[in-house]
Formats: sequence, structure tokens, C-alpha cells
Amino acid sequence: MPTWTHPATSTRLAYDDRGSGPPLVLVHAFPFDRRMWAAQADGLSDTHRVLTPDVFGFGESGLPAGGWTMDSFADALADWLTALKIEKAVVGGLSMGGYIALAFARRHPGRVKGLILADTRAEADSAEAKANRDKTIALAEKDGAAGVLDQMMPKLVSDHTRTHRPEVIAAVRSIATAQTTAGVTAALRAMRDRPDAIASLPGFKFPTLVLVGAEDTVTPPSAAQAMTDQLPAATSEQFATAGHLSNLETPAEFTAAVRGWL
Ligand code: MLT
Repeated sequence: MPTWTHPATSTRLAYDDRGSGPPLVLVHAFPFDRRMWAAQADGLSDTHRVLTPDVFGFGESGLPAGGWTMDSFADALADWLTALKIEKAVVGGLSMGGYIALAFARRHPGRVKGLILADTRAEADSAEAKANRDKTIALAEKDGAAGVLDQMMPKLVSDHTRTHRPEVIAAVRSIATAQTTAGVTAALRAMRDRPDAIASLPGFKFPTLVLVGAEDTVTPPSAAQAMTDQLPAATSEQFATAGHLSNLETPAEFTAAVRGWL
């Protein structure tokens, strides 16, 4: 596994680097790590260089002493791409990864060849959502990543996945329960404090692919539609049998949608 050290915070960024061709960066959801992109790395690395970083505090990446924000992590990704001599990339993310991709696009539009926003939203947290983040931070401090996952699990996948794809549930559990309390709480703070990105969307001139599971109740199709409506060059697709974790629940369909758009 390659690593890069973020100079400003002396923090390790771990990532996988598969294939060659135009670069495609995929940023994972909360509370997971880069392993959630395994099917997409397998399916797209014949034509693209698929780069999947672990967000600070997850997987094998370090956690900066002062935590991180969507903007600071987006800036770290830009520095990392510079270190890899990559001028422009297609940047995508699912849910929290989408918040990071949106921050990257706001702050580094010149580095974006295209944007993929999967099961995510552009709005900031409401006051109620912020209060829920604080409750989840308290839960994580008490019960760790497993406690947070137990709370999230009923909303993460579709009924179809729950009934027919037990291996997806097992993979979700295995990746999430490997995360540390410090990593989980840092990400909850970063998500709670993230800025609204809706007002920036009309300025995104690059092609954007908006993906969502039809049964996503965390970032529902209405949130995907709200982004599509504001984006000048959006393509959108829904996965009929997926919930929030569409790339894991319907991996072949997700990968085919990305491949077709790329
Ligand atoms: C995620 O899937 O990354 C999170 O559920 C997003 C969030 O809590 O806002």
C-alpha cells in the first residue's frame, strides 16, 4: 500500500493505486475506508488509474492532531495529487466522500476533469442534524465504531440488500468495526461543521455524474435531484434495488454507470 505524508500536518495518507490511464479518485463514506471501492477498482482499472485514499482517521491513514475539515482534507487531496504529478482528475465520492468531493470542486475547480456525487447531498447539516452529530459523538465515545454502526445499520442498505445480500451486510460490518473511536468522532465533527455547497453548484462547469440508490433514506433521491437541478452539466442515474451504500449494494450497476459516463 503506497502512502504519502501531508506536509502541513505530518499526517500519513494511505491509498490504493490501481491501473493506468486517466486518473479517477474515489473517496469513501463514513464510517468506512478505501476497501469499500474494491469492486469499482476491479471494474475500472483496465481503462483508468483508480486512486482510493483513506480519509484522515480511517483505514491506514493517520489523524492530524487538530482533526480535519472537509476543506482541509480537500486541500490535502489537491497536494497529494500534485505530489503524484496529477494535474486534473475525475474526483468522486459516496456520502461523506461526496461532501469531500464537493469541497474539492469548490476549492480546486481547475483540478477537476469531472465529478461523481453518489448518495450524497450539497446542503449543510440542519440544526437538528448537527445536534444528532453531537449525540453520535457521545455514542462513539461510549461504544466505539461498532455502536455507531449499530445505530446507522437500519438506514444504510435497502430491504432488498438486507434480504438477498447478506455478504454486503458482512462486508459493511467488517470494514466499519475496524475503525477507531478517534477517527469516527473526528469525521462526525467534520461532517457537522461542513459548509453548504448548494450555492456553488451552478458554477461547476465540468461534467458531473449524480448517482443514488432509489431506497436511500440517508441522502435520498430528492437530495440527488436538488443537486442535479443546480448543476449545469449533470447526468444522473438511480439504482432500483440499492439503499445508501449503492456502490456496495449494486456494484455491477454502479460500476457500469461510472464506466458509461467516463
Ligand atoms: C456516510 O454515509 O458517509 C454518512 O452517513 C453521511 C452522513 O452521515 O451525513
